Amino acid sequence: MRRTQVSINLTALRHNLQIVRQAAPGRRVMAAVKANGYGHGLVRVAQALHDSDGFGVACIDEALQLRAAGITAPITLLEGFFHTDEIPLIEEHRLDLLLHHEAQITALEQASLSSTVRVWLKIDTGMHRLGVSPESAASLWQRLEAHPRLQPLGQMTHLACADDLHHPATARQIQDFAQATAGLSGERAIANSAGILGWPETHCDWVRPGIMLYGVSPFVGGRAAAHDLKPVMTLSSELIAVNMVQKGDTVGYGATWTCPETMPVGVVAVGYGDGYPRHAGNGTPVLVNGQRVPLVGRVSMDMVCVDLRSQPEACIGDPVVLWGEGLPAEEVAEAAGTIAYELFCSVTQRVALVEQG
Ligand SMILES: Cc1ncc(COP(=O)(O)O)c(C=O)c1O
Repeated sequence: MRRTQVSINLTALRHNLQIVRQAAPGRRVMAAVKANGYGHGLVRVAQALHDSDGFGVACIDEALQLRAAGITAPITLLEGFFHTDEIPLIEEHRLDLLLHHEAQITALEQASLSSTVRVWLKIDTGMHRLGVSPESAASLWQRLEAHPRLQPLGQMTHLACADDLHHPATARQIQDFAQATAGLSGERAIANSAGILGWPETHCDWVRPGIMLYGVSPFVGGRAAAHDLKPVMTLSSELIAVNMVQKGDTVGYGATWTCPETMPVGVVAVGYGDGYPRHAGNGTPVLVNGQRVPLVGRVSMDMVCVDLRSQPEACIGDPVVLWGEGLPAEEVAEAAGTIAYELFCSVTQRVALVEQG
């Protein structure tokens, strides 16, 4: 059998939740588990994080999967509902809504709700993606309060540039949020992972960690170890061939890498068909037998090649780690021109899954 597998370390996941608790003491935690738990398995992650105070998902399908698995904690639809036909399910399954647009509020006013629906108001303080304007926040909040079937929980905003600790936008967003919510009742929530670790003034009542739970630094150029975060996902495989390739010969599709000398080249059973990024260039680090070697040549669907000059003794069957334990996903993502979020979400169904802890 092909030994390409993704292992999910639930002990590390729970450890990372403790790091959230230490960084934002006394705050409630809404764990972001959208997009299949950032690729780690929605239900698996939510069950492992049963200590969190709630979960944030992107759409009702994700919320319903959690309820079907017996998760009773508060679940917030971070984009509210997309269509009004979701409203009966929202009521039935006691889902909380993050309302980001006046049209959603109007739709709720026109719907005949049969139970109380809990809602957050999302205010756009500079991301300019979702959220009501700071100027309209107070009057929309009053509409929520006036609705007999809505229970307004509080106000949220989302940080656009908190991953850069020197970016001036974050201080502006914090200030605009404070102004927009001054005098409004309810709780406040601003912080994503970068806010939790880098901007204590964003902690408010609730924090919404995502990527740090999965063991990745949220900061540009950052590394998880600096925050004592542990990798949760490890993508691994093995060498399926080791070949001596002659000086001047090229490796892989497009002949993008030429051997500078006669040398051993290893072939690893992983490729973009497994979710390994095709844009990972020559030099992207790969662990063979726990030691770093550089990727050479283009990533193909089922295989990548590595330069084994530093390990001439390496042979077929030797273990390979693509990211995770021993090799930060941040580094691989940087080499592939992406972010660890995308690496995790890209791992495909054909990769065997192993759960640890
Ligand atoms: C509204 C909201 N809150 C929190 C998060 C978690 O962000 P991060 O993974 O950067 O911690 C996200 C993720 O994009 C989000 O959309």
